[in-house]
Amino acid sequence: MIKPDPSDKELSVNLTRNTDLIVALDYPRPDRAMELVDQLQGLPVVFKVGLELFISGGPEVVRELVHRKCRVFLDLKLHDIPNTVARAAQQAALLKVEMFTLHLSGGSTMVKAAAEVLAEIDLLRPRILGVSVLTSFDDVRWAEITKALTGHAATPDDSVAGLIEHATAWGADGVVCSAVELGMIRKQYPSLFTVVPGIRPAGFSADDQARIMTPGQARVAGADAIVVGRPIIESPRPREVAESILKELSDAAISA
Ligand code: C5P
Repeated sequence: MIKPDPSDKELSVNLTRNTDLIVALDYPRPDRAMELVDQLQGLPVVFKVGLELFISGGPEVVRELVHRKCRVFLDLKLHDIPNTVARAAQQAALLKVEMFTLHLSGGSTMVKAAAEVLAEIDLLRPRILGVSVLTSFDDVRWAEITKALTGHAATPDDSVAGLIEHATAWGADGVVCSAVELGMIRKQYPSLFTVVPGIRPAGFSADDQARIMTPGQARVAGADAIVVGRPIIESPRPREVAESILKELSDAAISA
């Protein structure tokens, strides 16, 4: 468990915010996802429907979760021409999800188009989360792709900073980033809503994630929500893992 320095002012500000646990339902079949939802019943978590489950189960999975009064995060990371993304955003809102993702690298017109269409259906308005740099990128792989795109290698830190500088002006309500960038983000944007994947409790494999932190570290760094998939869904005792992550999150707050 992290023992933060109680005299650190930034830390106390970070810890006045709650950190939600988002469980990634990365399953190939809806029935397996619903089994986990049943196992975690009563825990204060948000369920994330990503590409695998959405492609296998379709919008029906989202409807079923909403019907069960679950909080739903639709993580399809939209990235297309503005009209297509705006229309997809409208459909996400009609599904009554709490938040959904699009790639900030889709640019100002694309993000604004989604925000504008949602402004017309204010009552259902989900949070638009802008994905900055995927947590699976390390410095070397990010340098490779940025050099290919622009001729100049960039670091994930610089690219995240550049992308989120515009995120809210374009109409995003928050960003998806790694915990490694939270220090920089909290200094410049204390109230920006941040969702942080690439989270591993101590002792778990990083899998394909590169920029990782533990749940407690991410809480102390100021994450509004953390996303955890494999450590929970691949465990033989998923409820125990989820409960211990929730405890780690609240302990990180108490010990400050
Ligand atoms: O299993 P794991 O905890 O690595 O799952 C992380 C989840 O968060 C996956 O569903 C992945 O698609 C998602 N995600 C991510 N990095 C981002 C955005 C979303 O890992 N930048």
